[in-house]
Amino acid sequence: PSDTGRVLSIQSHTVQGYVGNKSAVFPLQLLGYDVDPINSVQFSNHTGYPTFKGHVLNGQQLWDLIGGLEANDLLYYTHLLTGYIGSVSFLNKVLEVVHKLRSVNPNLTYVCDPVMGDEGKLYVPEDLVSVYREKVVPVASMLTPNQFEAELLTKLRISSETDGREACNILHAAGPSKVVITSINIDGNLLLIGSHQKDKEHPPEQFKIVIPKIPAYFTGTGDLMTALLLGWSNKYPDNLDKAAELAVSSLQALLQRTLSDYRRAGFDSQSSSLEIRLIQSQDDIRNPKLTFKADKY
Ligand code: ATP
Ligand code: PLP
Ligand code: MG
Ligand code: NA
Ligand code: MG
Repeated sequence: PSDTGRVLSIQSHTVQGYVGNKSAVFPLQLLGYDVDPINSVQFSNHTGYPTFKGHVLNGQQLWDLIGGLEANDLLYYTHLLTGYIGSVSFLNKVLEVVHKLRSVNPNLTYVCDPVMGDEGKLYVPEDLVSVYREKVVPVASMLTPNQFEAELLTKLRISSETDGREACNILHAAGPSKVVITSINIDGNLLLIGSHQKDKEHPPEQFKIVIPKIPAYFTGTGDLMTALLLGWSNKYPDNLDKAAELAVSSLQALLQRTLSDYRRAGFDSQSSSLEIRLIQSQDDIRNPKLTFKADKY
């Protein structure tokens, strides 16, 4: 653990707008990381628009890039970060990448956002779920599912804080020492639950952060959240609660700026999904004002 690191980030790229790598690379660079992006897709814009064009990288093409790095001895990374992955064949190649990176650096931290769906709806092929559950979770160091993804991975129905904490326990037993359920919908609020299993002899240290739900729909926020959690948890390796406070504080400042910029421009912020104001929020990313507090259990 140190103040900085070298991150391989395998995520989507969009020409316009901020999801995937577009939403993760800049903030990690602002926090002082070297970030090497592999674009798992290159699309014109995110898939929430009426249409999109572009190309998907296949597993062999991913492996070609890794081979090029390896041939030049460029495969030393402190962190691997993955987000949305659209096929089992690509996910299996990512697993091979994890093993290859760990053969170069046994201390590699693998931060996995197991993007599968939201609000009860799956948006990846169903056969990805068991691969995440059985093969990816066991090799992840930190996992950042939302409520629905945590349910899919644990086969537990999550409808309370207690359920969320229990889901974290199940996930720890399967592999990752750090788990952050980034959002659980509970009576109008979003609840974040963090859990750090520091050793096997003690129960994990757990906390929650309550986030008032803004009545608007944003894209790219999950990818940004995971990137910020990687960035801050590496700087505070024994204080996942502090890392989460910093990440949530940055993200909420950015969302407020996004909302007020749209309103100023006369847009109805509830009518369609909002593109986050990432570049305009760089000060909130580099030096977040701590506006959110974690409550430890
Ligand atoms: P995944 O990337 O696994 O899908 P997710 O569903 O948690 O994760 P988002 O729904 O984008 O991803 O939420 C990520 C974070 O963004 C939340 O923890 C919350 O802090 C913030 N967030 C997103 N939407 C809102 C909103 N409408 N109001 C307040 N905060 C929000
Ligand atoms: N990646 C791509 C290509 C997308 O189109 C989208 C959303 O539409 C996302 C990722 C989702 O980003 P997030 O879950 O961070 O909102
Ligand atoms: Mg969500
Ligand atoms: Na998440
Ligand atoms: Mg998401």
